[in-house]
Amino acid sequence: MTKQTVQHRVERLIRPEIRALSAYNVPPATGMVKLDAMENPYSWPDAVKQAWLDKLAQVEINRYPEPQAQAVKDGLRRVMGIDAEFELLLGNGSDEIIQILAMAIAGEGSCVLAPEPSFVMYRMIATFCRIDYVGVPLDSRFDLDLAAMLAVIDARQPELIFLSQPNNPTGNLFSIEKIRRIAEASTGLVVVDEAYTAFTDTDSLHLLKDYDNVLIMRTLSKVGLAGLRLGLLVGRPEWLGELEKLRLPYNINVLTQASAVFALENFELLQQQTQRLRTDRAELLQALQALPGLQVWPSEANFLLVRIIEKPVIEVHEGLKQAGVLVKKLDGAHPSLAGCLRVNISTPPENALLLDALQPLLA
Ligand SMILES: Cc1ncc(COP(=O)(O)O)c(C=O)c1O
Repeated sequence: MTKQTVQHRVERLIRPEIRALSAYNVPPATGMVKLDAMENPYSWPDAVKQAWLDKLAQVEINRYPEPQAQAVKDGLRRVMGIDAEFELLLGNGSDEIIQILAMAIAGEGSCVLAPEPSFVMYRMIATFCRIDYVGVPLDSRFDLDLAAMLAVIDARQPELIFLSQPNNPTGNLFSIEKIRRIAEASTGLVVVDEAYTAFTDTDSLHLLKDYDNVLIMRTLSKVGLAGLRLGLLVGRPEWLGELEKLRLPYNINVLTQASAVFALENFELLQQQTQRLRTDRAELLQALQALPGLQVWPSEANFLLVRIIEKPVIEVHEGLKQAGVLVKKLDGAHPSLAGCLRVNISTPPENALLLDALQPLLA
């Protein structure tokens, strides 16, 4: 078959909206200071690592995983204080949970609503599933534009609304009163995505008691287990029982299950690391605010949103890369992110490397 014929078939078979997409871009990072993906930079002490490896050695890799991953769910309930009246659904990262939710509501004329800028996968997965997506711009303080959100709810009654709390990539918390108003007005599901909950004092689990259309989504990625791919959805059994039918069998593999159980038994270690990052976030914020030509927003997550005011952001992004520091360029992703970069909070030496690399680029 010639190359041309293959291309012809691709164009005939693959939906135009899929061909128009760009694949989720993960730049090569070997040897770089990696400040672009909201990972926890800390590893485990050798003794803990060895105890983990001992557990993994007992895993029966020739067997399918325990389908419900019950021990993982028990551990999550314990560390997160999840009430017995609510059910849990586990995903291969919370990305997979977004996909499960989208598949559950996809149908003629169905609609997903999210504020913008926010997590890009809400829009992407809606597109994958042929669901209309409505993005409502955040207000000038990056809070929810309640009137605009309510107007879309009134006009479209979206089946699914995603609210990232705190929000990625702006780092702030939305007003809880506005979230409540949205939950009250919506006849669809409101998913509060608490991917960054470990880095803030607030917590939305209490909303589950007040609203029967709210679900809470979390992940272990940001607290130090990004490599595991484990996300969870918490909510009323009536919802989760339906969503469970869309979960692929054995989506949580044996190595993830054993590692997650182990990590949840040692959760204090991850909490200490998170606490450290929160302390260092305050220092990095201050240090960045002291640099000329930068606008930096306070953050309730493990990253900071930074706007380069006096230099072309592409030059600064490229200059950082040349200096071995990888950060996320957000410029171009949304009008309100013009000139913006997103930088991870990391270890003090890596935060210092960022500052050292950034300073001459701003001069
Ligand atoms: C707001 C938000 N939700 C969900 C995710 C997905 O996390 P994961 O699939 O690693 O669980 C991310 C990752 O960046 C995120 O920022």
